[in-house]
This record gives sequence, structure tokens and C-alpha cells, in this order.
Amino acid sequence: MSGAAPRAIAARVLDAVLNRGRSLKAELAQALPALPDTRDRALVEAICFAALRQHARADAALAAWIPKPLGHRDGDLRALLHAGFAQLDPLGLAPHAALAATVDAARTIGRAHQAKLVNALLRRAQREGLPVLAADAAWPAWLRERVRGDWPDDADAIFAASAQPAPTWLRVNRQRGERDTSLARLREAGIDAAAVDGMPDALRIEGSLPVATLPGFAEGVLSVQDGAAQRVADAISPAPGARVLDACVAPGGKSAHLMERDPSLRLVALDVDPARLAKVREGWARIGVGAAADLRAADACDTASWWDGTPFDAVLLDAPCSATGIVRRQPDVLLHRRAADITALAALQARLLDATWATLRPGGVLVYATCSILRVENDVQVEAFLARTPDAIVEPLDDSCGRPAGAGRQRLPGEGGMDGFFLTRLRKAD
Ligand SMILES: C[S@@+](CC[C@H](N)C(=O)[O-])C[C@H]1O[C@@H](n2cnc3c(N)ncnc32)[C@H](O)[C@@H]1O
Repeated sequence: MSGAAPRAIAARVLDAVLNRGRSLKAELAQALPALPDTRDRALVEAICFAALRQHARADAALAAWIPKPLGHRDGDLRALLHAGFAQLDPLGLAPHAALAATVDAARTIGRAHQAKLVNALLRRAQREGLPVLAADAAWPAWLRERVRGDWPDDADAIFAASAQPAPTWLRVNRQRGERDTSLARLREAGIDAAAVDGMPDALRIEGSLPVATLPGFAEGVLSVQDGAAQRVADAISPAPGARVLDACVAPGGKSAHLMERDPSLRLVALDVDPARLAKVREGWARIGVGAAADLRAADACDTASWWDGTPFDAVLLDAPCSATGIVRRQPDVLLHRRAADITALAALQARLLDATWATLRPGGVLVYATCSILRVENDVQVEAFLARTPDAIVEPLDDSCGRPAGAGRQRLPGEGGMDGFFLTRLRKAD
């Protein structure tokens, strides 16, 4: 397959994400199977992520370099140019090959008549580089202001960390193998993985790589899960054999971790999205957990529709949120998130907290988690919950979960190499 094919596919994915509000993850999942070669698939992914991280700089270049602005019918051309710029910097591909293949891709996507323009713009980017903008230029103004308001001393570090690629964090399924064995196998395969102090199941690899080909992945020994998310299992620590509710389970990573640690847990797991539940089943089958779990498509707020009245010993509420802590993994969050979403999400989180609290037994523990850095979804949300819930008692979490933030702990993006994440542990009074 020629080098034009992956560039054309990257341009189509970027067009959908940049111009039609589509999710990067969903578009990649649809587009990548068309490429038989794993290197081409990795190239498409790398181009798309790098292009989205610098979309504001690429648009600034196009605004400065093209006399007549690109119109709404030129979305695919704009996307191809973003893909071309990303190959030169930051990906650092050999310029001659990157240019030739991207110009060829212009023909593939039906832009043969603009191949010369593509060539000229990529040559200019090669000579001059894209304009340098502040790291917060990639953030919509309303969200930038909210982050600055919530984290006045840390906002610049948040914007900078969110523009960087994330390391790959792996979780070792100790039902299927020891962490040291996995570490040795990865190193034998030439992969520079490291164990992480204080995190018994975690391995960390700098940069991204095709995880499905890692030794141990197909056998269900390894899964991908950020370090911050791996802290959830420590925070909830259910007693052996406990009856646990995961109110928002998909794609299933945190419950999988709990079941790897204790297969005797009695898990009820809900998600409102049946399509995402199918992915949970697939993922759990790969690692050999959850065969006995009660997995249901349900709105966790509507307890009458799914709860038989038997109280839970522990509840995990890993709530739908703005995903502002994981922009480095989902750069399209900055394109698609709207201010009104935050209000709606905060209201949903409050309903989920109230509904799931009612299912917890006295003495039981609820862990509330988000991958947000916005206080209204995190410490402010929990403060309001505590004010209306007199039987909720805050249980302290330690520094390994991030800095103190109201009744919980907040990790900001990039701290300890991890995602931005919020955690609170609440006990119901006996
Ligand atoms: C942050 S994700 C959960 C991630 C998951 N805990 C994991 O570790 O893989 C939030 C999930 O909540 C689900 N969700 C949103 N609203 C819900 C509701 N009212 N009831 C149940 N699930 C809901 C979404 O479909 C999404 O899959």
C-alpha cells in the first residue's frame, strides 16, 4: 500500500473530528481496520493525535499563509494540511517522503487540483515551522477561563501537560502472572518498561505503542490503564467477597482491576449505553474476569428499574464528566466540549450520587471519581452532596491520590506522569 493511503485516511479522520464534531476514538475505530499493516495503523494514529494537539497552530498558519481563507467546503483539504504539518513537526518524519505522500493523498481525496497548493504550504511549514502560540490557545476561551479560575497557580502547567503525549500505563492481571515476569518479557522484547513504586499492578512505558502486540496482552495478562485510574482500586478496597456496585462501568477498566484483585467480589455493573456494555464483555473475556458479574444496561439514577433493594457493601461511581483531565489522551475534548455540557454533567453527577448512595448499606463505602479537573464536578460537587447528606462521612485518602481538594484528592494532568483525576471516599454512617 502506498504512503498516500494512511495520509488520506488520517485526513478523513481529522476532517470528521475537526469539521463534523465526531469523536477521535470512534473515527479511528472505524477507519483503522481498513489498513492491513500495523505500521500504517500506528502512523494514522500518530498523525491524528499530533495534528489535534496542535490544531490551533495549524489553523494560525493557514490563516496567515493562504490569501483566501479555506471555506466550509474545504474541510478535507484543511484536515489533510493539518495531517501534513504534524508529520513534519512534531512527528519528525523524513520531509521528502512526508511531503510526497501527503501530496499524493491530496489526489486520493479528490483534491488533485490543489496538489500544488498542498506542496507549497508543506514546504513553507518545513522552512518556517508553524507559528508558536501559547499552550492555552488550543483551549476554547470559556474553558481556559474556568481552568484559570479553578487552578490559578497551576493553569499554565495544566495547559502545557495537556499538549504532551501521555506515557503508556499498563495494569498487570496478577491472576494470570506476576508483574516482574511481565516486566522481564517486555524488556526481552526490547520495550523499556518500568515498575512504579507503591503501585503493585502498574508498569509504565514512555510514549505510545501498539499495545495489542505486547507480550502478554493477548493472553489477558496486560491491560492499558492510566496510573491515576489504577488508584481507584486502592481507594475502594472492598472486603473479600463484598457485594459491589459499579454504577457507570463502561469500558470496564476499574471493575476489571477490582476483579483481578479479588475474583470473589459479587459485582453488579451498570451502564446506560448498551453498545458500550458489549465492549465491557469483550474486554473482560480477554482477561478472564466478570463471567459471574451481573452486567446491565440501565440508568443508574433510576434505581426502581434495576435495584432489587439488597444494599451494596461498596459503590464505585466513576461518573460521566468533562474529561478535562485527559486532554492529552483525548485532544478532541477541546473541540467538542461546550459550556452547557458542564452544567448538564454536574447535574447528572449529583443525581447519580444521590441515587447510588441510597443503595449503599450503613457502614458501606462509596468512591466518587472523575477524570475532570473542574472543581464544579469534583470538590464543589462533593461539598454540595455532603451538605444534603448528613449520613455521609469523609474518609481521608493519601498523597498517592493527588493533592487535597475539599473532601477528596485531585491529581492534575501530567503529575507523576498520570492523567488529571479526582477521587473521594465516603462512608455511610452506621
Ligand atoms: C467515565 S466513564 C466510566 C469508566 C469506567 N468506570 C471504567 O473504568 O472503564 C462513564 C460511563 O458512564 C456511563 N453513564 C452515563 N450516564 C449514566 C447513567 N445515568 N447511568 C449509568 N451509566 C451512565 C457512560 O455511558 C460511560 O460509559
